[in-house]
Amino acid sequence: MLLIGNVEIENLEKIKSGKVREMFAYEDKMVIVTTDRVSAFDYILPSLIPYKGIILNSISNFWFDHLKEVVNNHIIETDFENFPKFLKKYKNILKDRSVIVKKANIYPIECVVRGYITGSAWNEYKDSQKISDLELPKDLVLSSKLPEPIFTPTTKEVSGHDISITINKAKSIFGSEVIGYLQDKSIQLYTMAAEYAYNKGIIIADTKFEFGQIGDDIILVDEALTPDSSRFWLLDKYEPGRSQKSLDKQFLRDWLLESDWDRKSIPPELPQEVASKTSERYIMAYEQLLDKKFKP
Ligand SMILES: Nc1ncnc2c1ncn2[C@@H]1O[C@H](COP(=O)(O)OP(=O)(O)OP(=O)(O)O)[C@@H](O)[C@H]1O
Ligand SMILES: [Mg+2]
Repeated sequence: MLLIGNVEIENLEKIKSGKVREMFAYEDKMVIVTTDRVSAFDYILPSLIPYKGIILNSISNFWFDHLKEVVNNHIIETDFENFPKFLKKYKNILKDRSVIVKKANIYPIECVVRGYITGSAWNEYKDSQKISDLELPKDLVLSSKLPEPIFTPTTKEVSGHDISITINKAKSIFGSEVIGYLQDKSIQLYTMAAEYAYNKGIIIADTKFEFGQIGDDIILVDEALTPDSSRFWLLDKYEPGRSQKSLDKQFLRDWLLESDWDRKSIPPELPQEVASKTSERYIMAYEQLLDKKFKP
């Protein structure tokens, strides 16, 4: 098995190396390569997770296609066979984990949608009975389904943790019209995806979208509804009033919390078992959602 961490492509300029993706300039477009890197607590870990890049790329591509009626997206080409000839020799690295996309001007706002209450939103609700400045029922418990999905944007920080902002604050920065549009589209995308996933036995508790602008068009970019950008819960294990097992990095986060890492220095290498258990969760998410066996 080939694990992909850092990627270099002759003749393509690397524009950016994110926590998980590597972006290359290609003509007026971009090639995005999803690596097997994993981040936790805002750090990139020194270990790679088998198949993670391929799984994230496949799940994202599925959603971009499934949700294309709701909003346009950045995808130009997902099939490696149709990539330009000069990339053919990178088949081992690129196939199934890269896409050619339209390059957009990214709105520096993370469009978070929550259908269930957990994580930072639960902490906020416990303290104030509110999330952002939204009034909510008084009787919610941890992991409760919300009466309807809510939009709770955050800033997109260059490094470190993103910060929650109210919708009004976001409107004052980006304009009411843009934020109104991002809010409507985010809720529609979440609602349609959550319904689909529910029928496959997965609750999408919350998720985060990124949008960008090309000319007058606002399009969905980055990744869509993956276990990295969302919380996926198993429907048949769901029980409000406690935290839920999720099909993502939780296993690895729990291991890190129990290790003696101080969350300030370089994180430790993961034991082989933790990396492969994490990989299994990603594979489960893929197989259950897409309803097919994962064939590496
Ligand atoms: N179509 C696009 N045009 C321009 N930039 C894009 C596009 N799609 C995704 N991006 C950017 O590429 C990067 C993806 O990398 P990755 O997901 O690894 O980064 P990240 O660590 O989450 O990045 P960031 O810290 O910027 O959120 C993000 O910065 C994202 O905003
Ligand atoms: Mg990202």
